[in-house]
Amino acid sequence: MLEIENVSRTFPARRGLFGSTGGVRALNQVNLSVSKGESLGLVGESGSGKTTLTRQILRLDTPTSGRILFEGQDMAKLGPAALRALRARVQIVFQDPYASLNPRMSVHDIVTEPMLIHRGKLGLDRRQRTDRAAELLELVGLGPQHLYRHPHEFSGGQRQRICIARALAPGPSLLLLDEPTSALDVSVQAQVLNLLIDLQERLGLTYFFISHDLGVIRYICDRVAIIFQGEIKEEGRTQQIFDAPKSEYARSLLAAMPEVRVPD
Ligand SMILES: Nc1ncnc2c1ncn2[C@@H]1O[C@H](COP(=O)(O)OP(=O)(O)OP(=O)(O)O)[C@@H](O)[C@H]1O
Ligand SMILES: [Mg+2]
Repeated sequence: MLEIENVSRTFPARRGLFGSTGGVRALNQVNLSVSKGESLGLVGESGSGKTTLTRQILRLDTPTSGRILFEGQDMAKLGPAALRALRARVQIVFQDPYASLNPRMSVHDIVTEPMLIHRGKLGLDRRQRTDRAAELLELVGLGPQHLYRHPHEFSGGQRQRICIARALAPGPSLLLLDEPTSALDVSVQAQVLNLLIDLQERLGLTYFFISHDLGVIRYICDRVAIIFQGEIKEEGRTQQIFDAPKSEYARSLLAAMPEVRVPD
């Protein structure tokens, strides 16, 4: 479904107030693949290149070298129509559900907006979009009674559910989840994780799950890749990496982990 081949991204040197800074190699020869229906976890400390990699997958940024294939197609070679289709198939949920919802929009408008953007593909009229929004809210554990409320009327966990409903609206096959539960309380975190697991099963979604929390990764991911300074240090089945990490870096990361929290 998703193949990342030898992807590097270097940011050029910048000249600032204190002289020029050297170029940053944010990604260095990254190779990863995610199969349909699988969830791959990407773990790494701050500044290791996780967001840079997701930006390449969304084509918000272009690799300096290497290529990314989505459903067999080279993303760099997509024309405008194919790129629009790709945008419906790959959706992202961000870390901060407070910052990622427009406070002036109703839940209805938030969730139907992607359906409007992709109306060419989805072919839903106004009434059908509203019905679909109500269905999506139910799917994420909210209800039609929430349609005409605004983001400030919801808790953090509920807001993240709205973000998930919005991400599902254009009918994606791949969800990029960039620390989707890090801003939430632990108890709410578990509920949102369980929702994600349930949705993956029901909808056959593929997840690319970014987190610095190994407990969360262990709970949700089939495979894990560990990134350090833009390089994949280790990659394999979750159980295998937790039981017998091969690289020195993975071992130190696991050793530093306080305890694996497994939500019920
Ligand atoms: N637009 C940019 N211009 C210059 N440098 C950048 C740019 N974006 C990212 N970087 C650098 O690339 C490196 C990787 O950053 P990135 O945001 O991908 O890390 P991250 O793993 O997502 O970190 P965090 O966990 O804090 O979100 C960092 O050194 C960062 O400063
Ligand atoms: Mg980041």
